[in-house]
Amino acid sequence: MIEILPSILAADFARLGEQISSVEAGGASIIHVDVMDGHFVPNLSLGPPVVQSIRKITRARLDVHLMITNPDDFAPAFIQAGADHILVHQEVCPHLDRTLRLIRSEGALPGVVLNPATPLAMIEDVLDLVHHVLIMSVNPGFGGQEFIPHSLHKLSALNRRRIESNLNFLIEIDGGVSRDNIAEIVAAGCDWLVAGSSIFHSADPGAAYRGLKQVALDAAGVRL
Ligand code: DX5
Ligand code: ZN
Repeated sequence: MIEILPSILAADFARLGEQISSVEAGGASIIHVDVMDGHFVPNLSLGPPVVQSIRKITRARLDVHLMITNPDDFAPAFIQAGADHILVHQEVCPHLDRTLRLIRSEGALPGVVLNPATPLAMIEDVLDLVHHVLIMSVNPGFGGQEFIPHSLHKLSALNRRRIESNLNFLIEIDGGVSRDNIAEIVAAGCDWLVAGSSIFHSADPGAAYRGLKQVALDAAGVRL
């Protein structure tokens, strides 16, 4: 159940296919794709045509993180392009229940994302609708930022809530994940760990993926 999700934001886009093949050969089964609109976050990245191209070269599931102000308008296009999971930010969804249902009805698994300053209480009433909850451990917009330690408390609180209520959504973390903090993150109850620079800023992304996965599995008390 513990997975490391390589985030292609940190990849060399001129060699994207090759870099995705490297982490896939290393064992990665889910690729994290960051979509930014220059409004919700102060950066731009990619749109549905890039997802469509990636879809053709990998069997990995595509976890598409929409950092855009109007996810309802674009989720269907990303799903048609091949997204398996669509993540939307609570902060931009006044009708979050409707948005999550829309994503499911269009054929993808819905996830909800919380910024570091957004409390868990904001998603209390949709926890039974989501496939996964993504806790941002940096302010979204850029790779290579430092992990915000408070995120660990949020992970533990969400994990407690999941156990108490007998819910089965997965818990994901995104931002500043490295070899040094994986054990604490896994101990706090996280299932999916997004890693950008700690994978793609290495000479061999496949080997970097395997190294991080091993640390995560060791922390979970499981051996490869
Ligand atoms: C940040 C993105 C992240 C980013 C993580 O806004 O959502 O997915 O790629 O990059 P690292 O692992 O370098 O912090
Ligand atoms: Zn992301």
